[in-house]
Amino acid sequence: MSDIRFIDDLPIRDKRVLLRVDFNVSLNPDFTIADDARIRQALPTIEFLLKNHNRLRIISHLGRPTGRDAKYSLRRVERRLLSLLPGHSVHLVSDFKTHPPILVQQRETEILLLENIRFYPEEQAGQMAFAKQLAALGDVFVNDAFGVCHRKDASVVGIPRFLPSYGGLLLKKEIAMLDKAIQNPEKPVVAIIGGSKIATKINLIKRLLTLADTVILGGGLANTFLAAAGITVGKSLYEKAALAEAKRLCASAKRAGTELVLPEDVITGKHRGDRSSVEKLLSQVNASDNILDIGPETQAHIGQIINAARTIIWNGPVGYIENPVFKRGTDFLYYAITENRQAFSIVGGGDTLAALSQKEHLEKITHISTGGGAMLTYIERGTLPGIDALGHSYT
Ligand code: 3PG
Repeated sequence: MSDIRFIDDLPIRDKRVLLRVDFNVSLNPDFTIADDARIRQALPTIEFLLKNHNRLRIISHLGRPTGRDAKYSLRRVERRLLSLLPGHSVHLVSDFKTHPPILVQQRETEILLLENIRFYPEEQAGQMAFAKQLAALGDVFVNDAFGVCHRKDASVVGIPRFLPSYGGLLLKKEIAMLDKAIQNPEKPVVAIIGGSKIATKINLIKRLLTLADTVILGGGLANTFLAAAGITVGKSLYEKAALAEAKRLCASAKRAGTELVLPEDVITGKHRGDRSSVEKLLSQVNASDNILDIGPETQAHIGQIINAARTIIWNGPVGYIENPVFKRGTDFLYYAITENRQAFSIVGGGDTLAALSQKEHLEKITHISTGGGAMLTYIERGTLPGIDALGHSYT
């Protein structure tokens, strides 16, 4: 972090600022904005840069479109941004490559928002010629897109090669908060990892086994650990291909002296959409069951661990939260974390945030990260490609 310059370290004034943000907001099924937290979290940087008379050219992605796709247009984001920035106008630039006149005539009160950068295949290909084309739109580059810093996309790692580059205020906050949790955290440290797949979280779990005193596993991911221990998981989601890895992780936990907590009892259903549920001890799970949440005994055990924690890191729901019948374990976790006022708590990940978006007391969580994959990769490696790129930027 020390070799990165942030926008509040020295004044950036009267410049054309190319600002990379993560406006990858969650969308409703009809593609309207479900939650604009990622737009609001970028406002401090936007306002800071505007105050210093800079002309902003904003870059973001939205979703994972393949080519131009109106459903993933930033048009709705443009309108939301406009409503959040009184006194300014926001213009969507549908194709910056056609050199629209507004790029030359832009006034200070006008904010330009480039259309979804993933409409250009060169972006995710990390093409340097494309990064150079983008860089030509600015005098300086500011990256405030923590959520996408784990990607090697052209607008993330390429632009800093061509422009003096800085980190934004959100990026600064995310790094500071995560560093606090992973460098010398106050003990006991408790990590809760849920979600469905082990494959994407193996390295994270390995890292947490060295960092945390207790690692609690839930969700489909925990089913794979249960199956690896020879427990019947019936029709539950689990990864056969990851059984050996799960065994290795259990052995690593033993060697590291880290407590690995798996569900002791569970909530089962006939299928994910089931409107009724049954509480079962693990020994009662049979071949036709689907494990879809943690049970009350497990909640009580986890509750005690969370209550005693001084640092809490949480990513991923512990049940099938899309169905309210199987959301209780995840809700319990949330309330247990907010009840512990002494702990430094960090929560992140798209699914986790979706589970929390309607909740009260969000302010009792110390930091809600805007990153999903980015947060996990940062915990794993202590840096990200987009952050490294700022450290080696063109000066
Ligand atoms: C996210 O939502 O985690 C970021 O915006 C990155 O999106 P991606 O996983 O599609 O690269």
